[in-house]
Amino acid sequence: MPAKKRDYYYNKAKQMGYRSRASFKLQFINKKHHLIKNGDTVVDLGAAPGGWLQVAKELNGGGTVIGVDLQRIEPIEGVETIKGDMTAPETQAKIFELVDEVDTVICDAAPNLSGNWALDHARSIDLATVALEVATRLLKNGGHFVVKVFQGDLYDGYVKKVEKHFSYATTYKSQASREQSAEIYVIGKGFLTTSLRKGNVVDVTIDAMGKTGDGIAHVDDFVVFVKGGNVGDKLKVKIRDVKPSFAFGDIVEKEKSP
Ligand SMILES: C[S@@+](CC[C@H](N)C(=O)[O-])C[C@H]1O[C@@H](n2cnc3c(N)ncnc32)[C@H](O)[C@@H]1O
Repeated sequence: MPAKKRDYYYNKAKQMGYRSRASFKLQFINKKHHLIKNGDTVVDLGAAPGGWLQVAKELNGGGTVIGVDLQRIEPIEGVETIKGDMTAPETQAKIFELVDEVDTVICDAAPNLSGNWALDHARSIDLATVALEVATRLLKNGGHFVVKVFQGDLYDGYVKKVEKHFSYATTYKSQASREQSAEIYVIGKGFLTTSLRKGNVVDVTIDAMGKTGDGIAHVDDFVVFVKGGNVGDKLKVKIRDVKPSFAFGDIVEKEKSP
């Protein structure tokens, strides 16, 4: 980011009482991707000095906000903080003691920069991988996730890991990020607690009809809408799309009646 623009965000943060320029990044991300809403429970990993915590608190209007960092976070009214290493089981246990059904996990954690890009990239991916693991243990069905990563050769593999756990994954490069920096935010929307995934082929029986005329089948209590399916049909179905509460499938094969 040019010095002028950096100064602009720095001054704006000061004027608005935000602890860091990073606050604007979370505001931009949320404006576009709607990750935090009123009443949500939010966990922020790598939260010091607390700019994202301040914004999360504004966005969730009184819901629970928990911040974790290696550094001590100066108190923020209505925010609980934990001082510790987010990769350490004892720190994670402290988070799990405070909350279990979390709506959104946010992570702006960054490793100490060594100046060796490959190393910094690998460390950033390690932190982001831990953040994803913690998120998958905390998030409720349909919850959201955003994490900062430094781009590099491990980046694509990481995005694929995020994609596996969410209905939808995307990325965001904020205006408040340095233009040349390879930092990017990976976003997962609609955390999936079902084991069904796009591309799975499953055997189902249509047991009801939906309002729009699709057949309805259940896979371990999870609803799958099947276009062209009729009550009683025994079908092999390929999953086309998975949402937190239901999936869509296409008929691959229909069992012939005897
Ligand atoms: C860019 S700052 C976060 C800024 C914050 N989002 C804000 O708006 O104020 C990155 C933070 O990640 C933290 N961090 C890095 N590794 C960590 C770890 N293993 N556990 C906890 N925090 C970590 C650092 O201490 C640092 O405070």
